[in-house]
Amino acid sequence: MKSQISRREFMRLNAGLVAAGSALPFAGATTLFAAVPGAPRAISASGTKAKLHPQLPAVDLWSFGGTVPGPLIRVKQGDEVNVRLSNRLSEGTSIHWHGIRVPNAMDGVPYLTQAPVQTGKSFDYRFRADDAGTFLYHPHINSVEQVGRGMFGALVVDEIQPVPVDRDIVWALNDWRFRRDRQLEQVFNDRHDMSHAGRYGNVITINGKAGVKLTGHPHERIRLRLIGAATGRIFALDFGALKPWVIALDGQPVPPRQARPDDLILGPGMRTDLIIDLPGSVGAKVAIVDRYFDERRYTLSEIIVDDQTPARAKPLGKPQAHKPNPIRPFESAGAERLEVVFAGGAMGMMGGMGGMGMNRGSMMRMMRQGLFWIINGRIIAPLEAGVRTPPLFRLRHNRSYIVAMENRTVFDHPIHLHGHTFQVLARNGQAVDGTVLRDTVFLRPRDKVEIGFAADNRGQWMFHCHILSHQRSAMGAVLEVA
Ligand code: C2O
Ligand code: CU
Repeated sequence: MKSQISRREFMRLNAGLVAAGSALPFAGATTLFAAVPGAPRAISASGTKAKLHPQLPAVDLWSFGGTVPGPLIRVKQGDEVNVRLSNRLSEGTSIHWHGIRVPNAMDGVPYLTQAPVQTGKSFDYRFRADDAGTFLYHPHINSVEQVGRGMFGALVVDEIQPVPVDRDIVWALNDWRFRRDRQLEQVFNDRHDMSHAGRYGNVITINGKAGVKLTGHPHERIRLRLIGAATGRIFALDFGALKPWVIALDGQPVPPRQARPDDLILGPGMRTDLIIDLPGSVGAKVAIVDRYFDERRYTLSEIIVDDQTPARAKPLGKPQAHKPNPIRPFESAGAERLEVVFAGGAMGMMGGMGGMGMNRGSMMRMMRQGLFWIINGRIIAPLEAGVRTPPLFRLRHNRSYIVAMENRTVFDHPIHLHGHTFQVLARNGQAVDGTVLRDTVFLRPRDKVEIGFAADNRGQWMFHCHILSHQRSAMGAVLEVA
């Protein structure tokens, strides 16, 4: 049997070989974190201080591992993720591995798959990363506050044969709410945010820093992994004249094509992997504009060619496609259809009540309790409050299901399912082209979206809106696969 040291040595060599084999000449520094059996990577939930914006003072935040975002966790597909979370905060926490399929016990959902990791305690998360791609990790308790104070990070699982690029960059996008006195707003669960579009901040950062730019060489090829990591803000990016290739949505490979506007919508929990080929002329500058609120669009970042040395003489062509992840396909033959109607929210309470047997009295009671959303005519008390309600649906193991969703609210909602990767089948009656696999799907007001998946992962799984203020105010349910 190999000792741990020789195993570590082996992993390092292995990682070096992989990097050498797949990277183009301008390989940048990406730290490969290879899990060593028996030695978990220690990550503590703790307070930290960070300067998020050059014109703002450093503020007290909460973090994983003392940095915002938390440490990049990176493994090769098929390797193990092995993390020991220790809690040094004054309240319970957890880590949910967003978008990657894990056994139920590793899903990190307090009151459902584990108890909250209390102050001074630790919890070991250990699972094999079967799926390659860009994922996210974050707590799943008091989420608006914990994520809103800085607790989130990226999990990258490298393909066995990744698309060769010069640099591989992760951008976690989020926002922060500052008060006029230039301190972080300390109120997180605000009823207006809950019943409207969620908690929006007034300082926007990339990896915890305002004003991050992407600079590089003429014709340099960059893989840009975009992560929607805000508690509520939705980004709709526009790369202007640059035509990025999209190669993955929510970590799942798509046949490379030029990104369309919908590929660049990054609601909370959504990810898009792009291949960007920088322009050929030194000094070229491209603005990355967020036009989610079109009348209040702003420049999120810039791509600037600032180096004289070209990465190559000519731009590269279309990138190769990645192999799909080993996801059990949805089978339409015999699939059972489940219907989910989302209602409620400001301006929508009456609509939600309509025909759903809810009277004015129960609606008022619910609003007093800070619950604003209605799923299939029911108010499902949020798990985060420690209330466990019976599953909305019970699914039979290894059967395929269609979940037909309808958004009867006036707000957008990124809807996320745990434990499974689903196929987006149809949107407003139109079949979706090709096989689009996601774990978070974006619903606009009045949208009807059908997703399909094989329920091949046993356990109790959350199904919720990833606008965390909505999740907290009843826009979530549990699906049981047994
Ligand atoms: Cu990213 Cu249930 O969450
Ligand atoms: Cu929502």
